[in-house]
Amino acid sequence: MTVTIVGSQLGDEGKGGIVDVYGDTADVVVRYQGGDNAGHTVVRDGQEYKLSLVPSGAVRGKTNVLGNGCVVNPGTLFEELDALRERGLDPDVRVARRAHVIFPYHRVLDGIEEEIKSETDSEVGTTGRGIGPTYEDKAGRRGIRAGELADPEILRDRLEYVVPQKRALAEEVFGVEAGEAFDLEALYEEYSDYGRRLREEGMLVDAGAFLADRINDGAAVMFEGAQGTVLDIDHGNYPYVTSSNPTAGGAAVGAGVGPAVVGDGEVVGVVKAYLSRVGSGPMPTELAGVEGDTPGYDGDGDPAEEELADHIREAGGEYGTVTGRPRRVGWLDVPMLRHAARASGFTGLAVNHIDVLAGLDQVKVGHAYTLDGAERLTMPTTTERWADCEPTFRAFDGWPDVGPGREETVVVEDPV
Ligand code: IMP
Repeated sequence: MTVTIVGSQLGDEGKGGIVDVYGDTADVVVRYQGGDNAGHTVVRDGQEYKLSLVPSGAVRGKTNVLGNGCVVNPGTLFEELDALRERGLDPDVRVARRAHVIFPYHRVLDGIEEEIKSETDSEVGTTGRGIGPTYEDKAGRRGIRAGELADPEILRDRLEYVVPQKRALAEEVFGVEAGEAFDLEALYEEYSDYGRRLREEGMLVDAGAFLADRINDGAAVMFEGAQGTVLDIDHGNYPYVTSSNPTAGGAAVGAGVGPAVVGDGEVVGVVKAYLSRVGSGPMPTELAGVEGDTPGYDGDGDPAEEELADHIREAGGEYGTVTGRPRRVGWLDVPMLRHAARASGFTGLAVNHIDVLAGLDQVKVGHAYTLDGAERLTMPTTTERWADCEPTFRAFDGWPDVGPGREETVVVEDPV
């Protein structure tokens, strides 16, 4: 039996909490896309753990897999593992030999491209972790995979091919001085060490075959999506997206299992009772704005909206887990949710952070959009058309304070 957890919005839906609810019954927890751009907060025995790469099952004594669809920064991986060990845990994390590796030059190039785009206000607002450039190299067939780190000769060959290209890109195309991140010998030393450690600790696996064996033995598997549907490179708000597929289809490709393994299980969409967004791009149901991120916003919005936005941002702790940046906030966007439900085929929905809206007199929900004078029930395909959508709201009475704890979870089976 499998359960796949998918973000329905723009990431930050509180997937960590839902993963916690389902995680108890899982034997194996698999991440199938993304890298150390995730910001999963997992609470276990009253202790809070913030994980950006390692699957959440690592704090729960489960077997964890970073699937072939992930991009792995080995420095972050070992930092997170060491930090968990210092807190008395014994994490079991396997890494797909086919997963691509993030190198320092990927992070530098991520930053350079964002800076250039920011000159025309078109930056994506990436986490700066080198995610996009690593997936670019994967698609460009010049990437280096985790399994290759463990073979020094192959690693050297691959670096000899790719590093001069990256150096030329930085210096000749972007006109910046290529520093240490582009030093072939230093990269070889550091990354062959990581390769040795991955091999010695028995962490490298053929993820698909490893999971097939576990599933044949009756293991329950949880596929833990990072980011969210509107950040999906195919189904999201391109180009304001991450470079992978957080939607449920990505779970099969990115873990190396057949689509039926995912499709025969549960696919749970996680949605926040309101909406938040990091970085730029349209957000029809946005309240007020965040300077530098909200297109056209100069910090001078309607005072009542500003107050409401500040309240939700504070109550919900809406600051980036990875970057600490204030997030843009708005009402729940139901056309977005319909799109997410269809793209991933949700069999269930987990609504989070209802407590953040507690105490408000009135709560609104963006039910539909108006575009070119007509009602639309789902998101348009292009960023520009989406930006033209005006939300139609439905208003509901508020509710009194409720607690945010796991024991406050309300389970509704087979709603009619
Ligand atoms: P990247 O994944 O760092 O390339 O960033 C691409 C886009 O995805 C940016 O808008 C990021 O803010 C967003 N993003 C990436 N990871 C997360 C996440 O875990 N939560 C929310 N947004 C994210």
